[in-house]
Amino acid sequence: MIEEALRHFRAGKPVLIYDFDDREGETDIAIPAIAVTPKDVAMMRIDGGGLICVALHPKACEKLKIPFMHDVLRVASEKMPELRSVADFDIKYDSRSSFALWVNHRDTFTGITDVDRALTIRRLGEVVDYVMINGKEFDFGSEFRSPGHVAVLRASENLVYERVGQTELSVALAEMAGIAPAVAICEMLDAETGKALSKRKAKEYAEERGIPFVEGKDIVKAYKNFREEK
Ligand code: 5RP
Ligand code: CA
Repeated sequence: MIEEALRHFRAGKPVLIYDFDDREGETDIAIPAIAVTPKDVAMMRIDGGGLICVALHPKACEKLKIPFMHDVLRVASEKMPELRSVADFDIKYDSRSSFALWVNHRDTFTGITDVDRALTIRRLGEVVDYVMINGKEFDFGSEFRSPGHVAVLRASENLVYERVGQTELSVALAEMAGIAPAVAICEMLDAETGKALSKRKAKEYAEERGIPFVEGKDIVKAYKNFREEK
């Protein structure tokens, strides 16, 4: 299934990524950012229903100077002490969140429409491709403004060796596929219950549409082999 997922990513097509039974127990729709169209945004919001985010490789975040939101809040709370209590977070399924900035491309109007979000996501993918290939820095603010309607997630420095959320799993999959490591991800929710879509229903959805369904444990194993063979 990993090989099929890699083929899909290389073709700019979606893959479903389930994390772990003992973590969130969620499935995200994952699409290479560079290939995202307005139709893909519609698919993520209608069939996924969660939050549409873009997970970025840590090296790209370094080049683009995109910090974690918890660092922004920590620094801001030195001037605004009232932020200290919100900056102190205690999530239930991991030791820290991967949220970085919320952004819109400067050419968007409101930023929320399918066309606007697709533009923001695609340009994020292209800019990540540019900095990863050229090793150059890029003035992120020249193209993007924050706050915006697309959540940027910053993957951990050592990817799945350090953290195993869909942020790292999707970026590791992109790295193995040899594509720009910027991936649009969106949780799949159950429209009837409002809860996370069960693994069984997510697998059924994947089978009906010919979308590969991959689990965190398989991505972690494949990525460790990939890194060790290098
Ligand atoms: C943003 C999230 C999602 O769970 C997303 O899958 C990325 O987070 P993580 O890497 O923690 O799984 O929190 O909607
Ligand atoms: Ca997740």
